[in-house]
Amino acid sequence: MANDPQSDQEKKAAALASLRYIEDGFVVGLGTGTTAAHLLPALAERVKAGLNIRGIPTSVHTQAMASQLGIPLTTLEECPQIDVTIDGADEVDPQLNLIKGGGGALLREKITASASRQLVIIADASKRQPFLGKFPLPVEVIPFAQTLLRRRIEALGATVKLRLDAAGKAFVTDEHHHILDCHFGKIGDPPALARTLEAMPGVVEHGLFIGMAWRAIFGGPDGVQELVRSGKQNVL
Ligand code: A5P
Repeated sequence: MANDPQSDQEKKAAALASLRYIEDGFVVGLGTGTTAAHLLPALAERVKAGLNIRGIPTSVHTQAMASQLGIPLTTLEECPQIDVTIDGADEVDPQLNLIKGGGGALLREKITASASRQLVIIADASKRQPFLGKFPLPVEVIPFAQTLLRRRIEALGATVKLRLDAAGKAFVTDEHHHILDCHFGKIGDPPALARTLEAMPGVVEHGLFIGMAWRAIFGGPDGVQELVRSGKQNVL
């Protein structure tokens, strides 16, 4: 994950540019990661200035940060339809298919994205890629099945590593699962791989977000650039 001052500036520029897609009265999905973390203070400023929104956080970490900043929060139970979700990504291809989950929050992120009329991705320029797969694909699994799934995913041609935490133990997600980081190299047919993974019992979710993002905003050395998916925004 690039974390140098230049890419951090690019992340911040993308996050600030995304504010224009948040309107008064909106329910807003709040993403997770270093890029989404730039959005939260800026959004909190707008809230203090009178913007009326309610946020739905995509992780325990984002929930804590948003609460601390005074962003009003709600839940999917109260508001099952989200107006816009703003979130980061690990890779974005020209069709706006994504790899997400580098921060481990892919399950709630995908649920939130699926409940959103619009998913706006914010990222530094390095995330824009001609194809998906250079970044290892995170696959969230039930611990009981992880060794079996590791073998099955390796049989598809990937190099698979169990994600570890700072203490060297298996990383545990907000929903108490583990993550297999699966390095495929170039993924020729992301929708087909998504279907294959979804058919494996024990896979809870994977980080391929196919046809979900509506717009991607990239910070870059020459300013902010936006990519828009052709077609209509999501109809829920
Ligand atoms: C969190 O699980 C991820 O999906 C992040 O959105 C993604 O990893 C991008 O993270 P950064 O904004 O930190 O690069």
